Amino acid sequence: MSGRVMDRRKFQKRLLDWYGAHGRPLPWRQSHDPYSIWISEIMLQQTTVAAVIPYFERFMARFPTVQALASAPEADVLKHWEGLGYYSRARNLHKAAQLLVERHGGTFPRDAEQLLALPGIGRYTAGAIASFAFDLPAPIVEANTQRLYARLTGYDGELKSAAGQKVLWGFAEEIVDCKTPGLINQAVMELGSLVCRPLNPACDNCPVAAHCVAYRESRQHEIPLAGARLVITPQSDATLLLEHEGKLFLRQREKPERWAGLWDFPRYTLPEEVVGKGEAAYPLELASYVREQLGWTPPRPTMFSRLTHGVTRYRITLHAYWCELAPGVSKAKTSAAIAHLGSQGKWYSTTELDALAVPVTTRKLIHQWQKLNAMS
Ligand code: ADE
Repeated sequence: MSGRVMDRRKFQKRLLDWYGAHGRPLPWRQSHDPYSIWISEIMLQQTTVAAVIPYFERFMARFPTVQALASAPEADVLKHWEGLGYYSRARNLHKAAQLLVERHGGTFPRDAEQLLALPGIGRYTAGAIASFAFDLPAPIVEANTQRLYARLTGYDGELKSAAGQKVLWGFAEEIVDCKTPGLINQAVMELGSLVCRPLNPACDNCPVAAHCVAYRESRQHEIPLAGARLVITPQSDATLLLEHEGKLFLRQREKPERWAGLWDFPRYTLPEEVVGKGEAAYPLELASYVREQLGWTPPRPTMFSRLTHGVTRYRITLHAYWCELAPGVSKAKTSAAIAHLGSQGKWYSTTELDALAVPVTTRKLIHQWQKLNAMS
């Protein structure tokens, strides 16, 4: 296509006609407001459209403007992100909103350099904001579009290589050269997501198949080159629900831990040698971790529940234990323990737990615990 203006115009027209007929009316497409475009694009990184929609609507209702987001407590922002994962996205949004207020009076700069200076905004997000909100001819390349561009150009090399990036961004720049770059970018994303799918591309329904090198050469199943497959590593974690007078003990996770800022039960990754000993060894191991981290030895924990979940490249089995701090042998000892733990974290009642931002597995354990309590 390169350089042949007629071809480019035809490509753009076919693409826009298709988008006019098939584009989905997604909530963030209803306005040119850069704030809502920014929020949606950050949410859509690593998360599907269907999963994002309810989060986006709740987030926008609670934080309708940059100012509202900037002045909210971080805990509130994290609570509205609970379940979306990759929580640094929420922390960066919050920080960037504060910088937008400080540096730009709460409005979005149109300049790509200034957008790129904000935490969490890379070349793709800056391009999406500039083109969707301001209709500037800013190129975009993300997961859906890079697959589409690789097939259209017939690029069969490594997408992440310098040469691959040059081809993809070069193509992206070429196609936004028109009167409606925002629409072009929306349209390529939609085509990548609905038609130019990873496994079964619907080439028969593609409005730009005539412009596609991979289609012409029947190589759409070979392009793009498959990246190295993610190797999934099994991991065993143990966690402790520590109860006292109807409350549970949680601590706020800190940097550089995963899920920094969220509240959680004491939780640890079991080393391989402990996993090798089998589950019978876990309660003692857990107790010794608690002693090390919190400076206090819990009574022997009993099995509570077991969950499995995936986090990035890990398949985690979470072994959850429970124990109660009851005034047993020594009342004085128990109150000393309660006071000591209070300096390491906080005791939360069941209603307070509902308002807290916690990891998804912790939320599941809280629900299981609340259900048991409701039954007894
Ligand atoms: N994925 C990333 N951004 C998107 C958008 N604006 N619309 C649909 N899917 C997307």
